[in-house]
Amino acid sequence: MSEEVNDKKNVAVQAAALVENNMIVGLGTGSTANYFIEELARRQQQESLTVTTVSSSVISSQIAQKQGLKVVAIENLSSLDLYVDGADEVTEDMTLLKGRGSDLVREKLLAKASNEFYVLVDNSKLVSNIGENYPIPIEVLPFAWQLVLNSLEQIGGVGGLRPNAAGDGLAVSSHGSLILDMKFDEGTDSQALNQQLNATPGVVEHGIFANLATTIFIGADGKIEQRNK
Ligand code: A5P
Repeated sequence: MSEEVNDKKNVAVQAAALVENNMIVGLGTGSTANYFIEELARRQQQESLTVTTVSSSVISSQIAQKQGLKVVAIENLSSLDLYVDGADEVTEDMTLLKGRGSDLVREKLLAKASNEFYVLVDNSKLVSNIGENYPIPIEVLPFAWQLVLNSLEQIGGVGGLRPNAAGDGLAVSSHGSLILDMKFDEGTDSQALNQQLNATPGVVEHGIFANLATTIFIGADGKIEQRNK
């Protein structure tokens, strides 16, 4: 019986093979990042790889610690060698959409502080334009949400506050922000939108990751395509 192809796992294993001794490695969040953590722990155990990690979320930190990886607090770092994470969307020019989870602030901090940022996806994540499959998550200071929403509506945004999983309240990010999930017109230029969001007071962080990824690993039907910056 042939084993089912797991593209997320394949890209994670390929990326983990590139980790070198004594690196400080940032761990992403999500199902693909979990495969990477698992493989990194396996290499530590079976190949005596020495590695220090820093996590983008409490959940990834827990998973890594359970598997015996050393996790240091983000506060103790000024830079890292490599950050490895999944993404929700990836465009041809390597712009990403992230933040479907609630750890956007740490994810972008690690992506920015890292010498290399490997992005692990299967080909379902490839899009022509950012925002094609998901709204853009925008973390806002709780008291600023209405003013930010109004600003975003003026540039064509449609959306509102993200509800919590139970649907009986609002989602709160791990940073303590509220989250606006916003759709913009199909043709909206993601680079321009990135700059507009960066310049909007009250926005803590948002899900467009422009000019940050250095390599994208794309898994499709058992094969891996690698795109470099
Ligand atoms: C987390 O906030 C996101 O940015 C994730 O990187 C993204 O949702 C990828 O998740 P999967 O690897 O589970 O598809």
